[in-house]
Order: sequence, then C-alpha cells, then structure tokens
Amino acid sequence: MKYKKIGDILILDNSYSKNDFEELSKKHNVKTIMKIDHIQGTKREPIYKILYGSETETINKENGCLFKLDLAKVMWSKGNNNERLRIAKLVEDDETVLDMFAGIGYFSIPIGVHSNAKEVISIEINPNSYEFLCENIKLNKLNNVTPILGDCMVETPKFKADRIVMGYVKTTHHYLKVAIDSLNKGGILHYHETVPEKLMKTRPIERIISQAGNRDVELIKINKIKKYAPGVEHVVIDARID
Ligand SMILES: C[S@@+](CC[C@H](N)C(=O)[O-])C[C@H]1O[C@@H](n2cnc3c(N)ncnc32)[C@H](O)[C@@H]1O
Repeated sequence: MKYKKIGDILILDNSYSKNDFEELSKKHNVKTIMKIDHIQGTKREPIYKILYGSETETINKENGCLFKLDLAKVMWSKGNNNERLRIAKLVEDDETVLDMFAGIGYFSIPIGVHSNAKEVISIEINPNSYEFLCENIKLNKLNNVTPILGDCMVETPKFKADRIVMGYVKTTHHYLKVAIDSLNKGGILHYHETVPEKLMKTRPIERIISQAGNRDVELIKINKIKKYAPGVEHVVIDARID
C-alpha cells in the first residue's frame, strides 16, 4: 500500500485494502485518512472518499512555506515539490512575476518566500483555491503577492511581467498567446505540458514558437517533472522570449 502525508492527513492510493484505519492514523500521527480517486475538471477538484476521521482541512509545510488547504476542495500534487522550489530560486530581484494558474499559491507562495520579486500577480479561477491563496499570503506574511479571482485568459492582458508561470496541464497551450503578449522583452516563460515521451523535445517548444509570432524564442531548459501516465511526461519548458 502506498500513501502520502499532506499536513496531518494521510492519502492512500488505490491499492489499499481493508485496514485498521485507527491504528494507521496513530502510526502516522494523522487526524484523517482519505483516498483521492482523481482530480476533476478545469478547477482541478478532487473526487475523494474519507476512510477515517472527518476534518479535511490542514496546513502542509514544504520548502519553508506554509500551505493551508482543504483536501476535499482543492488538489495537492506532491510530485511537483522540486519544481515549486526550482522556480522560486530562479526569480531575480525586482522581477514582476505573473502566476496564471495560481491555485492556493503552489508557485506564488514559494516565490514570495524565497525571492525578492517586486510583485507576484496570482490569478486563480476556482473560488475555493482563491480563498486559500489569500489565506496563504497572510500565513506566510507576504506583502508582494497580489491575488486575483478570475480567468487568466481575461486577466493576463491587464499586466506586463518579466516572468510568467503557466502551471497547468492539458490545455495550457491555448493560453500561450495571451501569456507571450504579456511578457516583457527578454522575459521568461515557464510553460507546462503533458506530452508523449517521443514528442517531449519538439511539440512544447514548437507550440511556443508558433505563438510567439515575430519574437525570437530561446529554449533554456526542458525540465521533466514526473510521469503523468504510461508513456506521457509532465514537462516544463523554460524559454526566453525577446
Ligand atoms: C491546481 S494548479 C496545478 C498544480 C500546480 N502546478 C502544483 O504545483 O501543484 C492549476 C490551477 O489552475 C486553475 N485554473 C484553471 N484554469 C484557469 C484559468 N483559465 N484561469 C485561472 N486559473 C485557472 C485551477 O483552478 C487550478 O487551481
């Protein structure tokens, strides 16, 4: 049986069998045990079952940041932990960063905590995630993160940024044009895509180039985050757009 601990909640994978959940809760020092079947829809909402306990809200500590979240309402991907810190460490002093799919602050909070960004603009469409984003800004005592409740397709054109994080998969390429149009000259794009392994080195960068029009695109890095499905990788492309 595989499990992961998020704050003081234990998440079991599909291989769990009938168990003494009370004993398991004591062993792992958790208040609740859940199973998350899958994450559904654009707003990335969990379809879940509670196996033990009742409280689904917790505070998860990661990379020196605090993330308050309700695992019955919003997702948490443990596999993205290194990427969350990697991006934060790349941000240079006084940059304006735009986080287009901010969620509860998966990227915005580490950037706020670990960098000297001038401003982090964090756009999120799901009201539940937005509520936790606002709480997490307070919890981490950040004064340079601006939360916006709305659709990044509509909100992004209102801003200009030195760095844009596109931390969403499946349809992210539909948002490339709007992102690139808001990126300052020489700005950096962090573009996420789930891609068949054999297209990893071609399709994502070709999509960026096709949406950049006359602007030059420099590929900086292709970063593999995790296996998304058999033969499919979740990758992030770091690209400079001049
Ligand atoms: C859950 S995050 C992805 C996970 C994250 N990359 C991590 O490190 O764990 C994606 C977020 O994008 C939000 N989202 C989806 N479409 C959106 C849109 N058009 N505008 C703003 N936010 C959007 C979803 O509600 C969700 O909270």
